Amino acid sequence: MSFKEQIDLERLPVHVAVIMDGNGRWAKERGEDRIYGHQHGVDSVRECTEAAAEIGVKHLTMYAFSTENWNRPKEEVELLMELLIETIEKETPTLNKNNIRLMAIGDLERLPADARAKLHRCILDTSKNTRMNLVLALSYSSRWEITHATKQIADKVKNGELDVNEITDDVVSNHLTTKDIPDPDLMIRTSGEIRISNFLLWQSAYTEFYFTETHWPDFRKENFYQALVDYQKRERRFGK
Ligand code: IPE
Ligand code: IPE
Ligand code: MG
Repeated sequence: MSFKEQIDLERLPVHVAVIMDGNGRWAKERGEDRIYGHQHGVDSVRECTEAAAEIGVKHLTMYAFSTENWNRPKEEVELLMELLIETIEKETPTLNKNNIRLMAIGDLERLPADARAKLHRCILDTSKNTRMNLVLALSYSSRWEITHATKQIADKVKNGELDVNEITDDVVSNHLTTKDIPDPDLMIRTSGEIRISNFLLWQSAYTEFYFTETHWPDFRKENFYQALVDYQKRERRFGK
């Protein structure tokens, strides 16, 4: 029986987050440049998006570029940004056809102007879609996000809009870039690394983690469904 057939549709994770890792190593294993891995990684983004939408996941967040990734060689960063713009532009009609809404989280101000403009265009063009939210984490890191939220909250206290005693978990959550999305139920990381790398730290307090040795460019629908089957075997207790 395929992994897809083993999934209980009544107990799907509402939000799945993915740390797409291993593009560089995948390319190196083939004697190619890292960017070759990133190019093939785009196919996996498409597969994973289709798999999630087909089964009925409502929110899919993909970690595409971290704050720390800005420290990579200039050439790799530039090629990644080009790939990003190209992909977003090319995929907009497919997102609309499949009723998928694109959203973005992260420090988008740091993106090159043309990338930012095309990203906002796609976000706007798909904003009425309701089947699934595809959330791209771009120039994102949790520490950046929490620091940014802290500044906003401090400003409100300073201006008298908010009392210190009114700062609750919910107030913090509502100042994060993820404020419109529920916390992830499941987080997948590919390529055998067992770490979070500054992704959704606050939001993953009770997230289930799934790690696989598969490098991101090899990740296909059945790999996604395998993670869902594994998730459904777990007992989530939330401290109770
Ligand atoms: C993930 O693959 C993609 C991004 C972080 C942009 P990597 O580029 O990190 O590939 P590895 O981990 O070096 O193999
Ligand atoms: C995490 O992968 C970031 C993304 C997948 C975008 P990295 O490859 O940058 O993380 P580390 O350096 O292995 O922790
Ligand atoms: Mg990596």
